[in-house]
Amino acid sequence: MHSKTTFDFGLIGLGVMGRNFILNVADNGFKAIGYDLSQDQVNALREEGGNPEQVNATTNLKEFVDSLSLPRKIMLLVPAGPIVDKVIEQLLAHISEGDIIVDGGNSFFEDTDRREAYLREKKINFFGAGVSGGAEGARKGPSIMPGGSTEAYKEIQPVFEAVAAKYKGAPCVAYLGPKSAGNYVKMVHNGIEYGLMQLTAEFYDLLQRIGGFSNDQLAETYNRWNQGRLQSFLVEISSEIFQKEDELGSGRLLDQILDKGKQKGTGKWTSQNAMDLGIPVPTIDIAVSMRAISALKQERLKADSLYSRPTIQKKDAAELVDMCEASLYFAFVITYAQGLHQLAEASREYGYQLNLAVVSRIWRAGCIIRAGMLEDIANAFEKEPGLPNLILSEHFIGELQKAVPSVRQLVALAATSGVPMPALSSTLSYFDSYTDGRLPMNLVQAQRDYFGSHTYERLDREGTFHTEW
Ligand code: 6PG
Repeated sequence: MHSKTTFDFGLIGLGVMGRNFILNVADNGFKAIGYDLSQDQVNALREEGGNPEQVNATTNLKEFVDSLSLPRKIMLLVPAGPIVDKVIEQLLAHISEGDIIVDGGNSFFEDTDRREAYLREKKINFFGAGVSGGAEGARKGPSIMPGGSTEAYKEIQPVFEAVAAKYKGAPCVAYLGPKSAGNYVKMVHNGIEYGLMQLTAEFYDLLQRIGGFSNDQLAETYNRWNQGRLQSFLVEISSEIFQKEDELGSGRLLDQILDKGKQKGTGKWTSQNAMDLGIPVPTIDIAVSMRAISALKQERLKADSLYSRPTIQKKDAAELVDMCEASLYFAFVITYAQGLHQLAEASREYGYQLNLAVVSRIWRAGCIIRAGMLEDIANAFEKEPGLPNLILSEHFIGELQKAVPSVRQLVALAATSGVPMPALSSTLSYFDSYTDGRLPMNLVQAQRDYFGSHTYERLDREGTFHTEW
């Protein structure tokens, strides 16, 4: 690269996400340069980019940094973990005060806090910006969740707003809060993603086993749901997945895919941190556990041969589909409710000052959990900004109340037929517990006091009590 062009934006890590993101930046009129150690990745970007004055790439880090206008805006799209620290150290040798580094990966939020504090001392602005939407999102418009300094955000805002997905013209990006606010929101986005994916999979299983649905019928059902209040990226792609033919055999590809779930950790971090915060997110927890259970394929096969399953209860197909639609809607709403509840508490605990209406709005397009219902969710938080849980929102009380009888019937049907619906049933249990003013925790408290003198409080008077049981 021998051009003397000054570039507006730099991107490190030219894998498929990075390459697509930088091409998106260039398409939007910003001159962009990429850096990667691999000459092949550099060549691939140059080839796809066309005009080298608009988008270029290099394997030389100094050349990359020197070609950027000040303050430099450098985004990292490299695997989360030690590589991020390594790249930051290498960059520090070349960049100057006031420059901006954006980590666009799924970094753990505590790592982002540590990096932000370290770089702030060196007067470098650091952003943790979750990017959602996969490779296609990066190319055509992702949802971006940035957190960091408000001042520095002004510098990157034009680029982010140009490249982000648009929902009815509004960019799906917003400044979310200080420090790791962006990474934290992206982590919870992924927790919700795990929950919604597990749910869509459970309904697929139920419709197959109880309704006897073929892949074509499943495709048609999910497609129809996607035209209504369940409109969402995950329901839409499921409908397409059911139809995909297997190029290596006769039949549908889905039927040949091994049922062992893999994960990279963000869903697990959401659950772990929810436990630390004391906020219940059982639909997300069970979705993480189901990836673990699914991975025990050999043990499951053994156990399958040791136990008999109950007879499948038959159900009229049309009635079943209606019950499923209402139940999936209910479970989707509750999954968002749990994730947003966690965000509300995290915002208090970590000082993020999150606006949950804004968070819900930037999820309406571009990201994996985009769904029509996010418009109603955003409006609910707009109307009642201090809302602790969507279950308590005026709009959703009516909707959930209408849907819950179907959920009860479906959970019972699945249980008596031996079809596992762990996410749906734990969603219902969560709802029943959250909406119950009197839980049997009095017995647990009594037991704690009985064996460990842990004390208890009373309903009828103030104070802390202990009894010699
Ligand atoms: C997104 C996704 C993405 C995530 C994958 C894989 O918003 O585009 O959340 O960032 O990395 O979904 O996650 P798992 O491998 O943990 O399933």
